[in-house]
Amino acid sequence: MCGIVGAVSERDVQGILLEGLRRLEYRGYDSAGMAVVDGKSAVQRAREVGKVASLAAAIDTNPLSGYLGIAHTRWATHGEPSQVNAHPHMSGDRLAIVHNGIIENYQELREELKAEGFGFSSQTDTEVVVHLIEKNFRELGDLYQAVKTSVTRLRGAYALAVVHADEPHRMVVCREGSPLVVGVGIGENFIASDQLALLPVTDRFMFLEEGDLADIRRDRIDIHDREGTPVERAVSRFEHSADSADKGEYRHFMLKEIHEQPRVIKATMEGRVTESRVLEQALGTEAGELLQDIRHVQIIACGTSYHAGMVARYWIEDLAGVPCSVEVASEFRYRKHVIQKDTLFLCISQSGETADTLAALRQAKQAGFRAALAICNVPGSSLVRESDLVIMTQAGPEIGVASTKAFTTQLTALLIFTLALARTNGLSKNREAEIVKALHLVPGQVNDILALDADIAEMSRRFMDKHHALFLGRGSQFPVALEGALKLKEISYIHAEAYPAGELKHGPLALVDSDMPVITVAPNNSMAEKLKSNLEEVRARGGELFVFADRAANVNPEHNTHVLQLPEVHEITAPIVYTVPLQLLSYHVAVLKGTDVDQPRNLAKSVTVE
Ligand code: G6P
Repeated sequence: MCGIVGAVSERDVQGILLEGLRRLEYRGYDSAGMAVVDGKSAVQRAREVGKVASLAAAIDTNPLSGYLGIAHTRWATHGEPSQVNAHPHMSGDRLAIVHNGIIENYQELREELKAEGFGFSSQTDTEVVVHLIEKNFRELGDLYQAVKTSVTRLRGAYALAVVHADEPHRMVVCREGSPLVVGVGIGENFIASDQLALLPVTDRFMFLEEGDLADIRRDRIDIHDREGTPVERAVSRFEHSADSADKGEYRHFMLKEIHEQPRVIKATMEGRVTESRVLEQALGTEAGELLQDIRHVQIIACGTSYHAGMVARYWIEDLAGVPCSVEVASEFRYRKHVIQKDTLFLCISQSGETADTLAALRQAKQAGFRAALAICNVPGSSLVRESDLVIMTQAGPEIGVASTKAFTTQLTALLIFTLALARTNGLSKNREAEIVKALHLVPGQVNDILALDADIAEMSRRFMDKHHALFLGRGSQFPVALEGALKLKEISYIHAEAYPAGELKHGPLALVDSDMPVITVAPNNSMAEKLKSNLEEVRARGGELFVFADRAANVNPEHNTHVLQLPEVHEITAPIVYTVPLQLLSYHVAVLKGTDVDQPRNLAKSVTVE
């Protein structure tokens, strides 16, 4: 997955493209490049290994100048991060393209094009596309027709933006399996992988559909669908404020996003719950009728979103009494599965563009199910457009690669959904009111935890020289432990594992010694006493314990046991609240270790490849 941005304007586009790339860095950041057309000479291109800042420095020394341009920030899939593999790729010195996605049949096309005399300078799959377009351009003499003909040969996923020095007033773009949005300006137009990239220049967007091909000029946007029929795509306004992409007073986006949680959790509840009830209409006009038919929920997601799904399973089975299965999308899509007709297929995704999640949904559609529900943070994303029901989380743009506010807002949305489903399955009014009231308390409780930041930062010092860590939780706190371990490994590079505490004695206990910190979340629920016994097992083996415990659970500090007392929280909402101290712990460990907190090595925010 990579980020692409393009502009056709009356003004010089170099600055617009660079800022766009900075905003897309969350999609990949191992190399970056830009190609600009000025209508006079050949395409001017700059490419650098490393982050966008390296490209910016190179361009500062040797500026590019033109009214038409495309740019790319890369997350390597084919070929190591290097200057020759960085985009834009060119055929000759007049045609340049940027590509996000994967061309599956590139080997075959490469052989074919080589036989026709095209020379290859990179190891990428993308280079076949640029030569293929050049070949067709020579035959057809028109960039749009050349791209149109070329894409019929491509198998895989792509969002492409193409420019040619001979046609300096147009940019041809298309998408199939990778996201692409058109930014509509006044006397200028733009494209990008994500709206965020273009917020400094416009707040009006058109979302291209799968298979769309667009001819973009300063004053016109012509779109054709897969069949070649001219189509209009609606223009919508961006809903979040433009400063979402700034760090503000915070040192890192991750810290800013952790601190935004009370506000965005509240925003996710707004319009969906009263003081004591869930408004099921907020899930869609047909939601009530549809939920009555549901006998099974199949949740599909990846990464942090998968952990949100695991928490939801506890809620759905406990409160709604409906069987629920949860699976990571990359596993689900590659095995034979049975989907019953009365299944609700629930995809959870921050970006709504994760390739495995989308593929699982599309596959399941063929098998048949009652309806697809998306819990997603990006309006207009592929997942949102392909689902029957949608609950948008209101996290706003999440820039830090390690997901924080997206997770807690997903949990909020999932709990609201669960209550709506549970009501059609006999949940009493009183129990519903009790849980909705507990949900209203969550933003305040998260604030109380944020106030413990200094204590958590102090605790994090003890992890500085550790190489491993073990997270424990029971019941719905087990996925929270998994999420805590994921955060620690993602940003501090400390190897971390999570176990349901009851499994400790079946293996992981063998690892416990004074070098293995054990982190536990201990809310005051029915499992609290059992969890305390698990803690004794660790202590007896000389392990150092870090316990995040509900004040009422009576876990007290003692030798080798550090306890952070947390506010009293309802058992059902506890997973939302208990996630926050674990986020802060990982954050502080990463800061102390000096890692790249917002853009950890080898990762990317949005994974639009398999
Ligand atoms: C990447 C991100 C994770 C995220 C996962 C799923 O791995 O680094 O933070 O949880 O993708 O992304 P999604 O957008 O589908 O939630």
